[in-house]
Amino acid sequence: MTAPGDTPAWKKLEDDRRGVGEIHLRQLFDEDPARGESMVAEGAGLYLDYSKHRLDSSTVAHLAELAEQTGMPGHRDAMFRGERINVSENRSVLHVALRMPRHRSLVVDGVDVVREVHEVLTRMAAFCEQVRSGSWLGHTGMPIRNVINVGIGGSDLGPVMAYEALKDYSKRDMEFRFVSNVDGTDFFEATRDLDPAETLFIVSSKTFTTLETMTNAHTARDWLLDGLGGDRAAVARHFVAVSTNAEGVAEFGIDTDNMFGFWEWVGGRYSMDSAIGLSTMLAIGPDRFDDMLAGFHEMDRHFLETGLEQNLPVIHGLLAVWYRNFFGSQTQAVLPYSEYLHRFPAYLQQLTMESNGKRVTLAGQPVSTDTGAVFWGEPGTNGQHSFYQLLHQGTEMIPCDFIGFNHALNPLGEHQDLLVSNVFAQTEALAFGKTVEQLEAEGVDAALIPHRTFPGNRPTSTIMVDRLTPHSLGALVALYEHSVFTQGAIWGIDSFDQWGVELGKALAQKIIPELTAEASPELDHDSSTSNLIRRYRKAQGRN
Ligand code: F6P
Repeated sequence: MTAPGDTPAWKKLEDDRRGVGEIHLRQLFDEDPARGESMVAEGAGLYLDYSKHRLDSSTVAHLAELAEQTGMPGHRDAMFRGERINVSENRSVLHVALRMPRHRSLVVDGVDVVREVHEVLTRMAAFCEQVRSGSWLGHTGMPIRNVINVGIGGSDLGPVMAYEALKDYSKRDMEFRFVSNVDGTDFFEATRDLDPAETLFIVSSKTFTTLETMTNAHTARDWLLDGLGGDRAAVARHFVAVSTNAEGVAEFGIDTDNMFGFWEWVGGRYSMDSAIGLSTMLAIGPDRFDDMLAGFHEMDRHFLETGLEQNLPVIHGLLAVWYRNFFGSQTQAVLPYSEYLHRFPAYLQQLTMESNGKRVTLAGQPVSTDTGAVFWGEPGTNGQHSFYQLLHQGTEMIPCDFIGFNHALNPLGEHQDLLVSNVFAQTEALAFGKTVEQLEAEGVDAALIPHRTFPGNRPTSTIMVDRLTPHSLGALVALYEHSVFTQGAIWGIDSFDQWGVELGKALAQKIIPELTAEASPELDHDSSTSNLIRRYRKAQGRN
């Protein structure tokens, strides 16, 4: 793989940055009034308008050349073939196999992974039918009304986001909750008003060793047994597991017949469409879960089969590279105009930052360009009344994704038209701003003109979707997955490992006994950490 900075395309892009990158969007639209119709792409039911970006079609061509010259398309094809592109963990990266249709086959290391995927999906569907129909009974003979997913990171964020996003399609007479934080408050608040006799826990953990999840799972087991009189046989009716670690699941006391597996080639943050989506399937039912997988798959095919300059995830990823590397943008905002997507930015934070927050290349050499940006966001219109001020008039230029829907799921009066008018108004205001001349023509007091001027020239993508459905959610998530892939491939990094979370985990393991030991422990930390430990011990009445 060629380092991005060593490609001929990079030099062209540096020229573009000094050229078109300095031209105001007002001028770009004046010079090419039809760019709002030409700088668009469509696929898998999603429409992307990228005309309000600080580039022109030749920059897009140069960015596509950068993708070619860094070997991105070949890397993509290798992922789809099941090659071990996660080099630091020596693993294939095959979340795309999770949504391949039943009739397909993908043989990796002699195993048809698509067949395995569908075996698990079939078992999940049978289980979900039993729970949803009320025929799966708890230990005391009552049907399940409450489902609590216990997991963290990729074993939580995808399930929560998908449940919230698809709530309108969910079985409303069931309660779905999610416990992730090792802060006991999370478990307490999730269970305080529930009857254990009607509650099912899904312990979701790829490794089945994660501190937070195992702590919460043990607390859940105690809570259940306390509530149901202590008969350990109750666990079998109230606990199921989603994991790759059958041994760990059995050791915990969950019958492996009630375990839904997945595979080491599914990264945690790419797993919401695997068995990790069991809570999603319980909420929306197996048929709608299939629709979601079909949406993912449609975007997968679009990514694999469409030319780079018409390819939504590729364009989206190239834009991220353009701003990160040529404008020095450190953050990117994602602004969904749907209350149902209120957890989407949090979900994307793990997807984007755990994937592309890397400082060495696949070969272990320091990267020569900046990599992943900070992703953040909130649903519109709420964000408009908090941080948009900075987007419009702050000193930072922050590229934004606006995500809108043509049709509301809850059409009430004029809400939908008002909501969408704000999507279009915000992107227009960010691009074109408001000039001194306009303010003068309006008769604004001269002293106020600097305060009321909007510089504009702030780039946005508008992603429009017909309606939020399981299918369109799948396509939207796959868009971001493959955008992240595109960026990581260009930067030449491993987007599928996450070694950066290990050090903190290891240090916490060392500190736990130092906090809990009865006798004052020998501390060999720095003076700040040691002092904090001593103060905490004192607060607990330990010396
Ligand atoms: O945060 C690190 C991480 O490994 C994530 O990648 C993963 O999604 C999360 O922890 C949970 O891991 P597990 O599913 O093994 O409990």
